[in-house]
Amino acid sequence: MSPFQLTRTLPEDTMGAALRTDVLHGLTRTPKELPPKWFYDSRGSDLFEEITRLPEYYPTRAEREILVDRAAEIAAATGARTLVELGSGSSEKTRHLLDALTDLRAYVPVDVSESALVGAAEVLLAARPGLQVHAIVADFTQGMELPDTPGPRLVAFLGGTIGNLLPDERKAFLRSVRGLLAPGDALLLGTDLVKDEEVLVAAYDDAAGVTAEFNKNVLAVMDRELDADFRPHDFDHVAVWNAQEEWIEMRLRARRALNVKIRELDLMVPFEAGEEIRTEVSAKFRQDGVRAELEAVGLKLSEWWTDAAGRFALSLSTAV
Ligand code: AVJ
Repeated sequence: MSPFQLTRTLPEDTMGAALRTDVLHGLTRTPKELPPKWFYDSRGSDLFEEITRLPEYYPTRAEREILVDRAAEIAAATGARTLVELGSGSSEKTRHLLDALTDLRAYVPVDVSESALVGAAEVLLAARPGLQVHAIVADFTQGMELPDTPGPRLVAFLGGTIGNLLPDERKAFLRSVRGLLAPGDALLLGTDLVKDEEVLVAAYDDAAGVTAEFNKNVLAVMDRELDADFRPHDFDHVAVWNAQEEWIEMRLRARRALNVKIRELDLMVPFEAGEEIRTEVSAKFRQDGVRAELEAVGLKLSEWWTDAAGRFALSLSTAV
């Protein structure tokens, strides 16, 4: 069998259809909102990579520190022969894990971006000849099936991306992840932690303005894909800490009253001066909350590791 296989569970144009549905729904309600997944066209993915190198944006460095320190422990605790990575992107941080997992037979990266999957697979296959790479193009929030590869399985969901899901969505997501696991299989989950508001807000509103550009990229995506006439200059980037919900919200705030045309949807969207679109929620966690959410779906927290500064956590939990 060839060491590389790719399965597409998304029909060619689901992304286009989903964008139309999300924009129509999100911009005709009050308050306006858009799901964060639409940031990530190739420009948005590049901007996110740039964010991960900003001095204010600590999560990527903190998580890498934990992975480097704990990879051997993760390998010993799980004995994983299959590693499934959800939202694998460029698989850059995963290298530390892959290098430590000496019994690994199969790597199953799952991402909505086919180009990211193919690029990552090429790099990995060069480094680990003999490894079976079975890439899956899928939106893992929509539920999915895994190829028949040897257990035990370790599912990794890194980067704190689970924070983009709202509490109900998170529960449904964790339930479906649990459904991919047999008893004894494990989940490795990255979660950003609650901390001082100043530190959090700075991480989402950096001095160089890269996050502002990333946020406004969703306007460019709608202009291109839906023939809309959003102009980035008509909006301000806003990052606020919602202390009640313990999440960061990114918003785009209209600088003046506007009417925006979205031709593909035959839609005119009115904005009052100062009106906002919520474009992202990035939830921050505490150990007790993570433990309870895992337990609620049949996952038992077995390890909780943080970086030395206590900013970010990796947890290992086992399917019961
Ligand atoms: C990729 C979802 C983990 O929420 O921190 C970075 C995305 N948004 N800066 C995050 C993001 C603004 C990031 N995740």
